[in-house]
Amino acid sequence: YVVHEGCDHIFFVGFLGAGKSTLARNLGSLFHRSHVDTDRLVERLLGKSVSEVFAEDGEGAFRDAETGELAALARRKSLLVSCGGGIVERSKNCGLMHEMGVVVYLEGDLADSLRQIRCPERRPDLGSNAHAAAVLTRRRPLYEEAADITVDIRNKTFEQVALESG
Ligand code: S3P
Repeated sequence: YVVHEGCDHIFFVGFLGAGKSTLARNLGSLFHRSHVDTDRLVERLLGKSVSEVFAEDGEGAFRDAETGELAALARRKSLLVSCGGGIVERSKNCGLMHEMGVVVYLEGDLADSLRQIRCPERRPDLGSNAHAAAVLTRRRPLYEEAADITVDIRNKTFEQVALESG
């Protein structure tokens, strides 16, 4: 990999409902850094919602757009990036994040995520709790492998998580 010196991004990864977007947005306000969300970047690129992309174009199209938008962040500096929960599914994405900055894994428990997933439009095919549990079990080692910093967000205030996120 070419190392993109000086991007200085911070990437927040974790399962649905871990609070990535909220934390990145609030940290951005606190430290006057821009926040971007990879799902929003994909929606802007494709002109439709994440669930429409999954339904109409399939997960592969979503993942291709997600990787393309992630790579494009190499042209920017000092971002706080909240990443879609499945970004660690592709090792290329993990390589890109490590080239451009540091990866913070917000480790929550399944109960938090399942409460979030109850909104079906977020990820229709994760609707069943059993399926979501299986996905999280499969992904946990991927998050751990990708993380430069792991923050256990259970029973923590925003300030505590922010401090531990470095
Ligand atoms: C996904 C999580 C979503 C979004 C898409 C795929 C996943 O992001 O990228 O629905 O595979 O877990 P959030 O974690 O921000 O909801």
